[in-house]
Formats: sequence, structure tokens, C-alpha cells
Amino acid sequence: MHPHKARRALLFMPGSDRHKIEKGATLGVDTVIVDLEDGVALNQKAAARETTAAALREVHFGHTERLVRINPILESGLYRDDLDATIEAHPDGYVLPKVESAAHVQQVADVLTRAERTYGWLDGSIRLFAIIESARGVVHLNEIAGSSPRLAGLIFGAEDLAGDLGAVRTPDGWEVYYARSAVVLHAKAYGLAAIDTPHVDLSPEQSQLLAETEQALYMGYTGKLAIHPRQVPIIQQVFTPNDEQIQQARALIAAHDARQSEGVGVFEYEGRMVDQPMIRAAESVLAQARAAGLEF
Ligand code: COA
Ligand code: MG
Repeated sequence: MHPHKARRALLFMPGSDRHKIEKGATLGVDTVIVDLEDGVALNQKAAARETTAAALREVHFGHTERLVRINPILESGLYRDDLDATIEAHPDGYVLPKVESAAHVQQVADVLTRAERTYGWLDGSIRLFAIIESARGVVHLNEIAGSSPRLAGLIFGAEDLAGDLGAVRTPDGWEVYYARSAVVLHAKAYGLAAIDTPHVDLSPEQSQLLAETEQALYMGYTGKLAIHPRQVPIIQQVFTPNDEQIQQARALIAAHDARQSEGVGVFEYEGRMVDQPMIRAAESVLAQARAAGLEF
């Protein structure tokens, strides 16, 4: 497993489609999510498990993180077969759809603990990501976010949520804004990655995708789901600070350090008041840059 840093774009592909999985491995995307849930027809589930496991064993993904999305955690569900068929191929983690309670996460975590012991893998090394995409998921965010040390991120799913609420999707997205905000808030409260819903418009015109990704960044999200290769560079760029932002952050921190050593906490810098919150924001820009592999 690669020591993983940034998860800016996470590209979905159907687990039944070997060509797309192979293509996903060549794109330089931070993370791929091979899907066994809604992207796979019911009568293709078994074949998709085999295709996914074989691809995980055979395809070279370089630095790209490999996640598998399994089916929902229900009493009698497809998800156990998904885990059983793919665990031996050792993905870096699993994405859990329609998570509505801490127990959903813990049920999968227990299966992974047993597998890690069986195969002699590092205890707790297989990560989990919970998609919050139902009314119950949103109202139980606090227990879900604190459910397991394996949990590495919360993912917001707007389309399923709108279906569950009986809400109508609109370009501005106000109908899901409370939930989108709640997901990032709980992720940050528990030190988790916050990953935004995919932009499902596939038209080559990408200004809407750019605006939606920038809004996610401004809200505190650290990454966004992608569904087509052409979305990947746009998303990864939005979540990568540019040279100017890095230089500004460094200059601000340097000015702050100099004032601190003079015994001054709050000061004026380029016409604006600067104190701790601005310094923390500058440090977070530098952390994002480092996670993206930039050196400065
Ligand atoms: N991952 C990897 N490769 C992909 C891809 C994806 N998500 N989407 C498309 N590609 C590949 C295609 O195979 C094609 O490759 P080629 O040029 O080597 O033949 C190329 O990128 C261009 O694709 P395009 O023709 O524009 O799209 P398509 O009609 O083949 O597929 C979708 C359209 C929507 C079916 C496809 O983008 C897709 O499967 N997206 C992911 C869907 C998914 O997993 N949903 C579940 C979670 S929401
Ligand atoms: Mg969904």
C-alpha cells in the first residue's frame, strides 16, 4: 500500500468494466473507486466482483489509491459477498454507501479486522469511507463520524439524498445545502477527509463543475467525487494551492512569526487585520500543498 496523502479527485468506475478500471489507473488521479453498487446492474453483481478482484490483483495503479464501493450494509445483503470476493485482492479501503448508523461502519470494520489477521496485514490498515446520502445518515452524522478509527472520510451524496427527501435538484443546490454543510462540519470535528458529491452533468462544458468544486473548497471540503476522466484535472487543480497562494501563505506566516517574537499578537498586513485564524488558514494552505506533493 502506498503511503497516501491527498485525496482531491476520487474517480468512480463500474466494477464490471475492466477497460475503465485500466484507464483509471493511467490518469494520475489521487484515488479510484471501483463500484459494485449502483453503477452495476443487479444481474452483473457476481461478474463485477470477479472483474474487480482480478483488476486489483493485475493492474498497476502507481500512486493511485484503490477503493472499492460495496453494496449497502443491510441484514441480508450483497455487501458480504462483495467483501468476501475482493478482500484477498487487498484494496486500500472500502466506500460504504447509504450509511445511517455507527453500527453500519462497525459491522464492516469487524470483517476487515478478521481479514487483516488472517492475511497478516497491518491491523487497522484498510480504510473506510462513509457516504452520507439519506435523511437518517444526516441526522446521525455525529455517531457515524465517531464510529471507528478506520474511518478516514465522509462523502456527501446529493442525488440519493434528494431522492430520500423528496427534494428537487436545482443548479444552486440550496435544497441539499444544510446536509452538504453538516457533512463537512462533522468530518472536520473528527479529523476526517470531507469529500463532496459528484457533478453528474457530463457535458464537455465544465464551468459548472469548476464553480461547484470551488464552492466545495470554500466550504472546507478536501476532495470531490468524479465520474468521468475529464473531470479529474479540474478537481485536482482546484484542491491544489497555486504558487501565488503558497507564497502569500508563507509571507503571512513569516510576518506573524516576526511579530510574535516582538511580543505582538495581532497586526496589520497589507491593509487587513491578521491574527490566529488567518495564520491557521495559511497553514492549512501549506498543508494542502504538501499533501499534493508540492515542494516549496
Ligand atoms: N473511469 C475510467 N474511464 C472512463 C470513465 C470512468 N469513470 N468514464 C469514461 N471513461 C473512459 C471511456 O471508457 C472512454 O475510454 P476510451 O477512449 O479508451 O474508449 C473514455 O473515457 C471516454 O469516455 P466517454 O465515451 O466520454 O464516456 P462513456 O460513454 O464511455 O461513459 C459513463 C459514460 C457515464 C457511463 C462513464 O463516464 C462512467 O461509467 N462513469 C462512472 C459511473 C459510475 O461509476 N457511477 C457510479 C457512482 S456515481
Ligand atoms: Mg448513492
